[in-house]
Amino acid sequence: MLTPTVKAAWDRIAELAARPDARLINPLFHADPQRVEKMCVALDDLKLDLSKTSISPEVRAALFDLARVTGLDDFRKRLFAGGAVNNTENRAAMHMAHRAAPGEVLMAGDEDATAFAWERRERMRRFVRDIHGGTLRGSTGLPFTTVLSIGIGGSDLGPSMVTEALTMAEGERMQARFLSNVDGTAFVRETRGLDPARTLVLVASKSFTTQETAANAHVARKWIVDALGEEAVGAHFAALSTNLNATGEFGILQERVFGFRPWVGGRFSLWSPVGLVIALAAGWEQFDRLLAGAHAMDRHFAEADLERNLPVLLALAGVWHVNGLGCTAQCILPYDDRLRRFPAFLQQLEMESNGKGVTREGYPVGHATCPVIFGEPGTNAQHSFMQMIHQGPAVIPVDFILAHFAMSHRADAHRMLSANAIAQAEALLCGKTAIQAEMEMLQSGMDPAQAAFLAPHRAFPGDRPSIFITMEHLDAFGIGRLIALYEHKVAVQGHLWGINSFDQWGVEFGKVLADGILAELSGARIYDHDPSTSALIAHLHDV
Ligand code: F6P
Repeated sequence: MLTPTVKAAWDRIAELAARPDARLINPLFHADPQRVEKMCVALDDLKLDLSKTSISPEVRAALFDLARVTGLDDFRKRLFAGGAVNNTENRAAMHMAHRAAPGEVLMAGDEDATAFAWERRERMRRFVRDIHGGTLRGSTGLPFTTVLSIGIGGSDLGPSMVTEALTMAEGERMQARFLSNVDGTAFVRETRGLDPARTLVLVASKSFTTQETAANAHVARKWIVDALGEEAVGAHFAALSTNLNATGEFGILQERVFGFRPWVGGRFSLWSPVGLVIALAAGWEQFDRLLAGAHAMDRHFAEADLERNLPVLLALAGVWHVNGLGCTAQCILPYDDRLRRFPAFLQQLEMESNGKGVTREGYPVGHATCPVIFGEPGTNAQHSFMQMIHQGPAVIPVDFILAHFAMSHRADAHRMLSANAIAQAEALLCGKTAIQAEMEMLQSGMDPAQAAFLAPHRAFPGDRPSIFITMEHLDAFGIGRLIALYEHKVAVQGHLWGINSFDQWGVEFGKVLADGILAELSGARIYDHDPSTSALIAHLHDV
């Protein structure tokens, strides 16, 4: 139930959004020559440019009013104080402890989360040192050259995305392979060419009960045992989990289990022991810089005024687009191949966190929540779905992500990427009228009838919103800071929408049904389902 002040704040946003000019962006630049400076906010070299949105000074005031009356400031304090912001599981969301600075104290409930996290970090550092240094070797005495990481969802998307991003630029200390899907062909693909004697297998699962991960871990175990014998399991396996009983039952030695706490959510866990694969593949220094970057964003989010706070601004812009303008999708375009899995990572981060239909108290939310998140690295997207974003009837806001300096030696290629990113945002903003399009075609010598026919097809509506996120280097520090920016954006939006961003009950139902159907597919008896499901089971059933 909304309090009268919160309802009034939402009503004000709706009222501004109902104005005929609510979607227009270009007139805002004419009205205020200082708009660009006013709508850009920076944390050191990380800059958020919100000028190409239809957020007018009045809209901005209304959004900050919503932040104020919903108690965003208190929420931020409660989050960092380790309060049970995850109210359906009665837990803190204290992933920030794993990237805290020395001496900093963050609590999760009654536990000193930073003391725990530092102890874990030191164990991880020593393990990485011993693997890289060859003190810890495979069962035949050969050093490990490959790490095979098995996990799914938050136990895969973050670690694999970051590992790829860091090793692409800096080279790899160890080869990393990632197995997430429970599909025999995925196992074949990910182990192709690997020597079991030189492979360290990490089983990453917060719960250690996830069906796909358990199945893949057992296949990997067999792969190791077949090649090296049962006694090799101890040397070749390590686990990253909160479920120490289950890791023991699987046969993973206690000293090879890197436990963490339930106050780290799966999709927020890459900073915790779940990120061990990142450190093994990219090196400890890179992992450390990644954590430092995320920590810089934590401090900024915790301390900066709401008006200059990057995660808050990014979240409020999203609220304007979703709740004001009715946008149902959000596009993410990293103009950097190292972040090619970043949109997939954000899909889980945003949609699993904020794809909720009831409030924290269990009432239906009275408004839209998380939009569909999708994206691709630029410029690939330009040659596929950008057509729709430029000319389709639905307005889809875009986040452009771009570093100033290339991490590769190809400065020319990076300039091309930058030019394309800037051009896309300009095209979305400025558009092109049918008359302009027709004039251009006439000037190029086209037949007038043909030019008139083509003009509406070659016109662009313009006034399409985008946000530009730039930084100097997209190095480990920059990537850590970027991920934490979106993590906190998600938390802010969840707060504004009145939902719990830190649980994920929506994924449970299908998991339970799948367990039953699995038994039915391999057994004779088919239980009571709807007719369509029963027919499918009968069709796909082993006879
Ligand atoms: O099914 C969704 C989910 O629970 C995610 O929240 C989580 O990241 C993923 O499964 C993997 O879970 P676990 O790390 O416990 O194996």
